[in-house]
Amino acid sequence: MDLFEYQARDMFEKHGVPVLAGEVITDPADAAEVAERVGADSGGVVVVKAQVKTGGRGKAGGVKLAKSAQEAQQHADDILGMDIKGHTVGTVMIAQGAQIEEEYYFSLLLDRTNRALLAMCSKEGGVEIETLAVERPEALAKVAVDPLVGIDEAKAAEIVEQAGFTSDQQAIAETLQTLWTVYHEEDATLVEVNPLVKTQDGRIIALDGKVTLDENADFRHDDRAGLVDSGAADPLEAKAKEKGLNYVKLDGNVGIIGNGAGLVMSTLDVVAYSGQELGEQDGVLATPANFLDIGGGASAQVMADGLEVILGDEQVRSVFVNVFGGITACDAVATGIVQALELLGDKENKPLVVRLDGNNVDEGRRILADAAHPMVTLADTMDGGARKAAELALDPTS
Ligand SMILES: Nc1ncnc2c1ncn2[C@@H]1O[C@H](COP(=O)(O)OP(=O)(O)O)[C@@H](O)[C@H]1O
Ligand SMILES: [Mg+2]
Repeated sequence: MDLFEYQARDMFEKHGVPVLAGEVITDPADAAEVAERVGADSGGVVVVKAQVKTGGRGKAGGVKLAKSAQEAQQHADDILGMDIKGHTVGTVMIAQGAQIEEEYYFSLLLDRTNRALLAMCSKEGGVEIETLAVERPEALAKVAVDPLVGIDEAKAAEIVEQAGFTSDQQAIAETLQTLWTVYHEEDATLVEVNPLVKTQDGRIIALDGKVTLDENADFRHDDRAGLVDSGAADPLEAKAKEKGLNYVKLDGNVGIIGNGAGLVMSTLDVVAYSGQELGEQDGVLATPANFLDIGGGASAQVMADGLEVILGDEQVRSVFVNVFGGITACDAVATGIVQALELLGDKENKPLVVRLDGNNVDEGRRILADAAHPMVTLADTMDGGARKAAELALDPTS
């Protein structure tokens, strides 16, 4: 889960990372009052910052300096409702204005390939770090961090040294250690500060923060519900999550259900392949509409829940159920499908292709054949089933 800048700011503050005062508003009418309060200690200077989960807000005109409450009001009017790279700004943060002397870069992230953490640091921050990494890689220090040790005093000193800092080493190193505390205690997979600044009065402050939290660790944190951005979640994905399904919405028109992530991934591939082979018909190409892994059990209820979510997707024109019977044999899966269709009743109104294989497959197919549901077609092979589902997505009468 990615956090908004203001949420990262609050998290930094909680752990003692130096940040500036800031408050969020959604109604421009509140801007002047908040700007007065926030700017009280910075000579009335504040920055109005769009809260969207994308970088480069500054360049896009989503970060504006204001020297008075009136000016802050105007910027809030302009920025709220603005579109930044496809994100509509619904919230702005009004933050204290900093008198920046230098801008640095720091990030700490999970480096899966090296089974370690990676700290990156540069004296040249503020700019887009991807550009710096390509154009002047020598200006970006990269230091491996042992996740069991983290950024201790020695590691912080190493990072600061590699980045080439010649002054304020101590203060910067201390900030890096505190940022490690955030990463570690909050179970993050990314903590990025760009820019980390030195102000004209010599303070080191995190001026912009990006934090990604590991959702697998949610159970360790009882304060996470408030961080969820309910507006951003796809309604079908939200519904699937509620029902405990492993569902990812995609853009296509062939709904997919399978058991086991590997099988579902391959099913997406064969459906996409069949779609390509068939080509566009009346401007429509058959492509996978989702990823849905119903796991080992595949009970009638799980099958019904899965089908209900998929049929709720208006783009879906056909559904391909591809199940390999293992410990849960094909006859149990077939019974599950038949019961799911009963549970759904009239809601099952799109053609369904079912391919069963594995343990007890003959009995499974017999159960489905006996049920003879008008919307269900049986397929013998995975490729054949994918092809049929793709054809049905293009032409429901095929
Ligand atoms: N509180 C602040 N005071 C003064 N300048 C700021 C403040 N916050 C951001 N800036 C300036 O705006 C630039 C862009 O802001 P930032 O928060 O990094 O957004 P983004 O990375 O999305 O462009 C910063 O590099 C900094 O120069
Ligand atoms: Mg930034």
